[in-house]
Amino acid sequence: MIKPDGVQRSLIGEIISRFECKGLKFIGMKLIEIDEATARKHYEEHLGKPFYEGLVQYITSGPVLVGVLEGDEAISVVRTIVGATDPKEATPGTIRGDLGMQIGRNVIHASDAPVSAAREIDIYFDGDELLTYRRIDEAWLYEE
Ligand code: RTP
Ligand code: MG
Repeated sequence: MIKPDGVQRSLIGEIISRFECKGLKFIGMKLIEIDEATARKHYEEHLGKPFYEGLVQYITSGPVLVGVLEGDEAISVVRTIVGATDPKEATPGTIRGDLGMQIGRNVIHASDAPVSAAREIDIYFDGDELLTYRRIDEAWLYEE
């Protein structure tokens, strides 16, 4: 998910291109506004933490781009491209390391495990919004 700061700062194209160029495949994508109940559901693991209310406020403060990526070891590959939670500590070359300044404005969210990915995809997408197709370059991205 490209968070509201990423959308407002016109970073959608920059961010999407990093995943595309890597070889990951978007099988779903849409621009939405998250309501408060959905934000609380998404981040329920952080309920009670000091940053929780601010996080709900942040994520509902404007449009976000939600997307689903597919590829070999996609979750860990995406998390590596995204970088550490705090952009100040994130390695240059990562999205957060290159494009952010503060932990509370860290531009992007990425699912951290298969279970959370499945849960989060279910929050934002209906089954018929996820597509099955081959990228024409897959034969060159992957060995047999
Ligand atoms: P995300 O879930 O957004 O992909 O980020 P993450 O896994 O790297 O980090 P997580 O621990 O899940 O935290 C979720 C989001 O909460 C905000 N946060 N603020 N002020 C703080 O100490 C603090 N800690 C976390 C960040 O926006 C983080 O992405
Ligand atoms: Mg997280």
